[in-house]
Amino acid sequence: MTSTSAPAHDVTDLGLAAEGVRRIEWSEREMPVLRLIRARFERDRPLDGLRIGACLHVTTETANLMRTLKAGGAQVVLAASNPLSTKDDVAAALVSEYGIPTYARRGEDRDTYYAHLNAIADTHPQLTMDDGCDLVSLLHSERPDQVKEVLAGTEETTTGVIRLKAMAADGALGFPVIAVNEAQTKHLFDNRYGTGQSTVDGILRASNILLAGRKVVVAGYGWVGRGIASRMAGLGAHVTVVEVDPVRALEALMDGYAVMTHSDAAAWGELFITATGNLNVFRREHFEAMRDGAIMANSGHFDAELDLPALQALAEGHVREVRDNVQEFDLGGKKLHLIAEGRLVNLGAAEGHPASVMDMSFANQALSAEYVAAHHAELEPKVYVVPEAIDAEVARLKLAALGIELEPMTPEQAEYVASWQHGT
Ligand SMILES: NC(=O)c1ccc[n+]([C@@H]2O[C@H](COP(=O)([O-])OP(=O)(O)OC[C@H]3O[C@@H](n4cnc5c(N)ncnc54)[C@H](O)[C@@H]3O)[C@@H](O)[C@H]2O)c1
Repeated sequence: MTSTSAPAHDVTDLGLAAEGVRRIEWSEREMPVLRLIRARFERDRPLDGLRIGACLHVTTETANLMRTLKAGGAQVVLAASNPLSTKDDVAAALVSEYGIPTYARRGEDRDTYYAHLNAIADTHPQLTMDDGCDLVSLLHSERPDQVKEVLAGTEETTTGVIRLKAMAADGALGFPVIAVNEAQTKHLFDNRYGTGQSTVDGILRASNILLAGRKVVVAGYGWVGRGIASRMAGLGAHVTVVEVDPVRALEALMDGYAVMTHSDAAAWGELFITATGNLNVFRREHFEAMRDGAIMANSGHFDAELDLPALQALAEGHVREVRDNVQEFDLGGKKLHLIAEGRLVNLGAAEGHPASVMDMSFANQALSAEYVAAHHAELEPKVYVVPEAIDAEVARLKLAALGIELEPMTPEQAEYVASWQHGT
């Protein structure tokens, strides 16, 4: 598994490294904020000697984050945060070209996935960087003695933040974690525009269907669901939203979409996309109601949003791959299709979010790592939002990189908005 010259690793094929480097450099062009941070990190080395264990999707954008952390002086190791999201060429490049220990193989089974997480844990990280809380969860459940070694963690996604808040509420969280997902410059852009576009990308690469005129059901109208619905509508699809939250359902309605129950939507829809962070959103009774040829995909964090055991049971073993990343389930009277095994479709069937949006998410990660390196002694074992100053700095740097100037307030305006004496 590990050759003598390369750092420790378990990747599919180191021979793919050259292609990985080309693609990582292409992404880097679209990540000006992270480039600026890397240049500063190279100078100031704010992470000097810090052991960082990262469990993130192994994509070109993540590679650029790893390079940034390493430039800041950190000893970084990386494992995949999902068995199907790894880009094997990127994993190879991280090892061969950038000297970063990496454990990730696209399509790895559950045992390999956890062996990789354990390889990260074996390096005794002082800072964890998670996408979905699996590394934090492993340390707390299987290696409790190591929890005290961790100064702090960062968490990338909504589902991970929900799990961490549940741990904190139970008094089970052993170190502070910065919820990168809660930064405005993360979820407003990454979850909405990043997932919106890349979900369409994954579905099209896998199926090549026409979206104009298609009946699309989006389950969940959070940041991710909003992005998917708006991109689908923009391509001419008829969009129906299913929600459990009354405010979000109203918002969807007034944004111009139909709102239905899962049962009604199951009979109506042709393409179903889940983005709830919940489980068994579409299940047996819905599969039974779906029309012949219906397609399903998931963009939520875990592959639990579609009840896949029920789908398997209904098909009684009549499952075959009809295109790359598309499985056909033959239910007798009809066939249903599933993209990317029900795992995050934008990463399983495409390349994940465009680099330009990950530029902001990963700028928040890098600056949060710098923040915890400097301030961990002041933090308690709970979930923190990204400091406002970091969020504002990321937005400022992104605008500057895009060549866009902000309108400054006049002194008179600044005084007016700060005072309470002005009235009618
Ligand atoms: N694919 C990606 O690259 C990507 C990127 C960011 C986030 N995510 C993941 O996507 C999921 C959603 O993230 P978000 O930021 O939109 O979260 P969110 O909390 O803003 O939205 C989730 C929505 O789903 C609704 N919901 C919950 N259960 C439901 C059910 N049974 N039926 C219908 N609606 C239901 C909630 O009311 C909520 O409005 C999370 O798992 C998150 O981790 C994926």
